[in-house]
Amino acid sequence: MEIIHVSAECYPVAKAGGLGDVVGALPKYQCKSGDIAKVIMPMYRTKFLYENDWTVDFKGSANLGNWYFDFTVIKEPTNKLGFDLFLIDINGLLDRQKIYGYDDDAERFTAFQIAVVSWISSWEHQPDVVHCHDHHTALIPFMMKYCYDFQHLSTVSTVVTIHNGQYQGWMGWDKSLYIPRWDLWKRGMLDWAGSINPLASGVKCADKVTTVSWSYMDELRENANGLEALFEFEKGKSVGILNGIDNEVWNPSTDTYIENRFTVKTVTKGKEQNKQILCNQFGLDITKPLFVFIGRLVGEKAADILPGAIRTAIHQTQGDACFLILGSGETSIEWELQQMTNEYKGIYNAYIGYNEQLSHLIYAGADFLLMPSRVEPCGLNQMYAMRYGTVPVVRSTGGLKDTVTDMGDTDGFGIRFNNATIDDLAYSIGRGVAVYQDKKHMEWMRKHMMQIDHSWESTVFEYRQVYQSLK
Ligand code: ADP
Ligand code: GLC
Repeated sequence: MEIIHVSAECYPVAKAGGLGDVVGALPKYQCKSGDIAKVIMPMYRTKFLYENDWTVDFKGSANLGNWYFDFTVIKEPTNKLGFDLFLIDINGLLDRQKIYGYDDDAERFTAFQIAVVSWISSWEHQPDVVHCHDHHTALIPFMMKYCYDFQHLSTVSTVVTIHNGQYQGWMGWDKSLYIPRWDLWKRGMLDWAGSINPLASGVKCADKVTTVSWSYMDELRENANGLEALFEFEKGKSVGILNGIDNEVWNPSTDTYIENRFTVKTVTKGKEQNKQILCNQFGLDITKPLFVFIGRLVGEKAADILPGAIRTAIHQTQGDACFLILGSGETSIEWELQQMTNEYKGIYNAYIGYNEQLSHLIYAGADFLLMPSRVEPCGLNQMYAMRYGTVPVVRSTGGLKDTVTDMGDTDGFGIRFNNATIDDLAYSIGRGVAVYQDKKHMEWMRKHMMQIDHSWESTVFEYRQVYQSLK
């Protein structure tokens, strides 16, 4: 089967979060399992671009409304990532430092999608599936079905995977001229509540819709930033498939980002050594349990309650825990978390920014990982943490609910709570501080979690079932 993944992110080419990790791994494991999976994404100015050689695969041109543009599809020729990787270069539009966050993102990603579909429609053969990820690529099923120039692709199966339903790519109807000549009777397939809504369009037009955990699939019917009724209506073609993790990248016994590697057998010593490095680097007390947070500092992740919860926990445990934050996001949250470093020297520190290497060291050296997320479609951090023997402290939502159990339950190995509030999180930190004293229990949880199989190897077949159901 030939599957074309279309995405705005793909690790290690360009990553802003978990979407990048998934698109960097799923195709690799699909190829290993015998399918032909390929990735096409925008060409940004990233380190990966400059450090690798590229060949030109295709040159084309298209229109975005009245703007005529040329594009080039380049290919990484050595199959370095375990799948064929293609980048689309649209001069001046995509070739920038950042992935998102520009005023013209609507133009950037619409042009990208037009180029992708033009490229695929130039082939002599047709792929089996075009698999789109999130709203940046979700207009493609509409284009393949209802744009006159691409209608010969209307029989190719399309899948849209929702990694995050909060962002939908809304555009005013004034931008409808960007979409190449389309069947005007199909206006309803683009519209939601008076705007062009690319994510809603993807859900309506794709042959199958997936999201990245089972619980999130259910939650979308009740909380989907305005699209609840649509998810209810389309539930017959929707399915939740829990993300896997790339065990080659996230493996404490081979991880090249950390000096002190460890296995299930050596986790106690390995964690101690990594924790020592972290504590030296951030001036923290190694004798205390280390609670960490890694992620985007935004409301969705409930990063706004971190300062309050950490203050409360420090007060309630009389300073018997250490905290380390790695993240970037909303300025006010960054500022407060940074300010606190002066207040709690020796037990609290923060690294405001993005640092892949440091994230590996933190998963390896921490005792507990905090994830109070308000919304968490899947969450990869908790799975990485578990693989490195770090106990997840999570709110019971989405993928967190599907991957973490509570230590109070039979064979439970994490800490769960219900509300994204300062009190619930502080209380859960208190439970962590208490269990940390019980060395045997901690060791059992670490070893147990490290052996849970979240590999893509065991997940790719679920995607294959989805594709086969479309034949
Ligand atoms: P989301 O995609 O919603 O941000 P996920 O849990 O799916 O959440 O994935 C987050 C990914 O981004 C993980 O690989 C995590 O380690 C990484 N990450 C997030 N913030 C940072 C950061 N500041 N520095 C390094 N890695 C980060
Ligand atoms: C999104 C979600 C996150 C998920 C990731 C990968 O960024 O917020 O929960 O793990 O996509 O699917």
